[in-house]
Amino acid sequence: MERSPGFRCFLNPRAGAPGMVVLPEAGFRRARAAIAAWPGYAPTPLRDLPGIAAATGVAAIRIKDESGRFGLGSFKALGGAYAVDMAVGAEAARRAAPPAALTVTCATDGNHGRAVAWGAARAGCRAVIFVHATVSPGRAEAIARLGAEIRRVPGTYDDAVRAAAATAEAEGWIVVSDTSWPGYTEIPRAVMQGYRVMADEAADQWTGAPPSHVFIQGGVGGVAAAVAVQVHAGFAPAPSVVVVEPDRAACLLASAEAGHAVAVGGALDTIMAGLACGEPSLLAWQVLERAAAAFLAIPDEAAVAAMRALAAEGVEAGESGAAGAAGLIAAAADPAARAALGLNDRSRVLLFGTEGATDPELYRRLVPARG
Ligand SMILES: Cc1ncc(COP(=O)(O)O)c(C=O)c1O
Repeated sequence: MERSPGFRCFLNPRAGAPGMVVLPEAGFRRARAAIAAWPGYAPTPLRDLPGIAAATGVAAIRIKDESGRFGLGSFKALGGAYAVDMAVGAEAARRAAPPAALTVTCATDGNHGRAVAWGAARAGCRAVIFVHATVSPGRAEAIARLGAEIRRVPGTYDDAVRAAAATAEAEGWIVVSDTSWPGYTEIPRAVMQGYRVMADEAADQWTGAPPSHVFIQGGVGGVAAAVAVQVHAGFAPAPSVVVVEPDRAACLLASAEAGHAVAVGGALDTIMAGLACGEPSLLAWQVLERAAAAFLAIPDEAAVAAMRALAAEGVEAGESGAAGAAGLIAAAADPAARAALGLNDRSRVLLFGTEGATDPELYRRLVPARG
């Protein structure tokens, strides 16, 4: 295993510069109306974290707890399943074929594939989901239980993205990816519009003075970009958006340092499986290069400590789900980062617990039951 580079904080020199509209409001309104009409839709809870607020020396922390979203364990259904709906509807009309004649596919480290498989079952089409070498058997089985075919490929998440795209091209399948690249943007844009529902609910649920800071975890950057757009729309003044990544897969931080989107190499071996991405999403980067105030990288130990701290406050968060909280805790304890981010006893922080115990066996190992 590579040596852990450890905690880093990079302030974004381009924060606040005007940029293009990547997620138009009309698309968001369509996503919100569609998702709100699904059976079983209910806003997830926004929970107070008084213990972590006291320990980090800020006024208040609230976390949007996505562990119960549609019974799938993460926020991802908002994006993946919504994009399946959109894409299958359009393609069935174009080919004049029933949904049952269509196949959707994607790469996943667990949660997106589960969302796409669930969306395919709802839409009545077939799903083939590509998983890379280190996706845990527990996460792959959860996808298969929804009726999808699993194909395991060597390499990293980014290799699985390429394998899914190449197979889809050869077979005439629909790629429902949560990441975007030049020439492939419409489906991932729908995914991100769906994610905005999570931050929109949080803005509705938030009471009192608006949050001063939002810490949101980044894989390819899709959810961070969606949250950034939505908290800018939902709170005045807009909070500072801080993006948190694993130190071994910090492609968004590296892109901010470089001044343009760059990939990071290596095995991307982090326990934060949902964030183990080496290449930013094109659309996400177009948002985050201006909308993020800062980028943090955290080691795996910080995520585990945050999972335990959240469990002590009654919030079940998996390794990737706890990463935003881990970034806050690490930054609050680092005098230079604390000052640079303006964290103090008046700060009010919004976090997103983007997943519950999506790999229950691993969760039990990392967060021993108490009492
Ligand atoms: C639980 C969880 N949180 C956050 C993310 C990051 O999302 P994105 O890849 O859009 O940055 C993922 C991605 O799979 C995830 O599964």
